[in-house]
Formats: sequence, C-alpha cells, structure tokens
Amino acid sequence: MKVHLRVPATTANLGPGFDSLGLALNLYIELVMSSGNDTDSVELLGEMDGIGTEPSNNLIMRASSLVFERARKRPEGLMLKIFNSIPIGKGLGSSASAIVAGMFAANRLIGDPFTRDELMDMAADMEGHPDNVVPAVVGGLTASMISGGKVYYHRLDPGSDLKIVVAVPDFDLPTKTARAVLPEQISRTDFIDGIQKTSFLLMGLIIRDYSNIKMALEKILFQEIRSTFIPGYSKIVEKACEAGALGVTLSGAGPSLAAFTLVNESEICHAMSQAFKLEGIESRCYILSPETEGVSFIDRRSAMI
Ligand code: HSE
Repeated sequence: MKVHLRVPATTANLGPGFDSLGLALNLYIELVMSSGNDTDSVELLGEMDGIGTEPSNNLIMRASSLVFERARKRPEGLMLKIFNSIPIGKGLGSSASAIVAGMFAANRLIGDPFTRDELMDMAADMEGHPDNVVPAVVGGLTASMISGGKVYYHRLDPGSDLKIVVAVPDFDLPTKTARAVLPEQISRTDFIDGIQKTSFLLMGLIIRDYSNIKMALEKILFQEIRSTFIPGYSKIVEKACEAGALGVTLSGAGPSLAAFTLVNESEICHAMSQAFKLEGIESRCYILSPETEGVSFIDRRSAMI
C-alpha cells in the first residue's frame, strides 16, 4: 500500500495576527509513505537540516505514529520518501507541514479512519498552535481559533496578484526561543493596537485594498521583541519598502522576513539580501505566491518522486 501527497509551506501571524492568521505558499514538502517493507526507513531529499533521518527521530514518522496509535492500527515496515523544499526552522511552517504530511498520509494508509477536521485538531495539538497547520491543510489565507480544544477556521483565496518575497537568513531561530521571550501579560494599549491592526489587515486582504498595510505590519509588540534577534531588521524592512513592497513582517516566529508586494519582486529580493549582507549575514530569497490548495494527494502521473 502506498500513499503520495504534498503539503504547502505557510507563513504565520502575518504581523499582528499572532497564532491565528496564516497563508499557504507555493513551496512544498512531498511525501510517499508505503507499508509492507522489510523495516521502517526514511529517505530524504532536499532541505534536511534537523528533520531527522532515523525513523525514531523523524517528525513525519512521529506524527504518523500518533494517528496509528489513536486508530489502534499500525502497519508494518513503514517507508517514508520525503522530498522537502521548505527551509527548516526558518519561519515557513516546515514542522507544521511535516506533521500534516505524516498524519494525512498515515490516515489514508489505514483507510481514512479520521476526518480532515479531526486530523487538523491532532496536528494543531502536536504543533502547539493552529496558524501554520490550518493553511497547510486547507490552503489559502486562514484565520483560526481554538475553542474547547478544537480548531475552528475561515479561509479565503487571497488576491492572485499578491506575491510574497521571503528572505531566509542563514541562521536559525527556534520557535521555542522566539516564544520564550514574549511577555505573559500585555497592556490594554498593546491589546487594542493588536486588535486594530489585525482587523485592518484582514479586512484589507479580504477586499483586496492593500493601502496602508505597511502600518498594520509594523510596531507590533511581539514582533518588536522578536526582531531584536534579527540584526538590521528595521533596515531590511525599509529597503524592501523602498524597492516597492507593500509591507514587511516576520514570517511566523522568524528569522525569515516576508514582504508583501504587487510589483518589483526581484528588486525587493535583492534589497533584502543586500541589507542582510550589510549585517554580515548571507540569505536566500524566495519569490512566492499564495497557494490555494492545502494538503493534496498526488497520482502517479504528476509525481516528482
Ligand atoms: N504563531 C507562531 C509563533 C508561529 O509566532 O510563535 C510559529 O511558527
């Protein structure tokens, strides 16, 4: 038995929408999971840092095990073939995409005992927050909340003219570290500021009016605190906006920066890379589009692996 699927990368928070807003991007992890092999094994191509090549420490294997345990059905001799294009530990939701890939493949392999929403709840629980998991499952732009341990969300297809230019620096910022520095409590002023910016941003994205989005993406308490981990953060934002970006935000917990734009993608890429370089930091740049499809099963003809 063999299952083949792909899951998109995601950018979470979109500035003020902490642990709620997320957007699927056209960069993917692709997985073939098969059972009935001699032993459990993992074969990895593409981005690999920290993904774990041993079956026991591989995130996809661990996520699939949770599904098998809950279903009380564990196939023997599980083989994973993974082709990953999502930079790991850079704020593009690689762990959420890996968890989603593992859980959805495992579920299909044993005859779909769980619904999509049940798998989404399990994945958000394993990941710790829903903002990457939800767009990885359903694609598009999503707003999610958790109530009573369950994930609820709305999604829409964002404007297809919108591009997301992501600058990925060559250092890691573990989400755990980026969350540990955030205060337990915030002031009323910061609370109101967050609500205003999230509402303004979301409404702008819905009606496709991107004016003043820049202001909704900056001077956000949590982002200000986190940006101290990124040398030259303000300068990189400034340079991207000078090159034509509508606004720039930390991608998820960082350290990547995501610039939203309708024009000049290459110039923005160049400006961000140069600004990183001035800080002595090498970076990679991706010009991405919103992905409207979430996790999707692939037939043999269109397969890459
Ligand atoms: N919302 C999460 C955070 C995303 O910012 O910590 C982490 O990928």
